Amino acid sequence: MTEISFEQITASIGAYVTAKADEVIAGDNPGKILAAMNQYGVLVFPELHLSDDLFVQLCSAMGDVHDPGVTADESAAAEKGLYRIALDKDDKTQLEFVQGNDWWHMDGTIYDVPGKSTMLKCENPPSTGGDTGFANLFAAWNSLPENRQNDLKKLEVVHCMAAVGKKMYDNPSVEDFARWNAVFPDTRHPLVWQHRDGRVSMVIGSTADRIIGMSREDGDKLLHELLEWSTRDEFTYRHKWKKGDLVMFNNPGMLHRSYPYEKNAGRVMHRLTLKGTEPFAAMAEI
Ligand code: OGA
Ligand code: MN
Repeated sequence: MTEISFEQITASIGAYVTAKADEVIAGDNPGKILAAMNQYGVLVFPELHLSDDLFVQLCSAMGDVHDPGVTADESAAAEKGLYRIALDKDDKTQLEFVQGNDWWHMDGTIYDVPGKSTMLKCENPPSTGGDTGFANLFAAWNSLPENRQNDLKKLEVVHCMAAVGKKMYDNPSVEDFARWNAVFPDTRHPLVWQHRDGRVSMVIGSTADRIIGMSREDGDKLLHELLEWSTRDEFTYRHKWKKGDLVMFNNPGMLHRSYPYEKNAGRVMHRLTLKGTEPFAAMAEI
């Protein structure tokens, strides 16, 4: 068996993984992959060409696979438990889910325990556009000045789908808001998340709507400032897709986004999510 190996991409984010498709689930490779994902934030397996079956097996070997029931669309991929990311969706909620990915976000802010990892396998790369960006929120938090960190530690933030919808449409209707609130109503989280391993990140991104106890204007300003800070070049990696690439990331400590692409760019990804085991948690008192 060839040893799986990891090569760091930049000092703050990412690693390229050298592995063979038929060996990713062998031995303790799933455990090594999970540990490396925690360390580097995002793992890129260039042109791995993993089959859907092995993809599901790898995810299962790393933990519990999240059932994508709510996003099932009767495609062949969905039958295997995979979600197919593409813009050729007829259902409005499904289409908005994919289009909404174009803003920096964390997955699963609707839950108390967000997913551990979102995994994307490139079935067909986009002809133009459609890169995916990743930002390391641990690194972004660590580089904030201490007095700024102290200002943020006790804040709480409300997340909802409407926060994303308002970015997608200039004049959303009452029906639009009703549709968004039905899938993802207001959900409160600490702004600053201290993880079990002691690392600290922020619960921000497109689903963040407002800060408790702040005016809409001040909250918007703060959320915008933190997003701008966290998505600076030094904390980010931008992936340009090739067919067969597999990319997975440590969702609780990252932001990610797609860059816009046209429906006819042909971009198709197969997606799995690994369930999380750690609820959002505020900073411990020191
Ligand atoms: C996701 C996501 C981004 C992309 O699947 O959760 O945000 O580039 N995808 O498709
Ligand atoms: Mn996402």
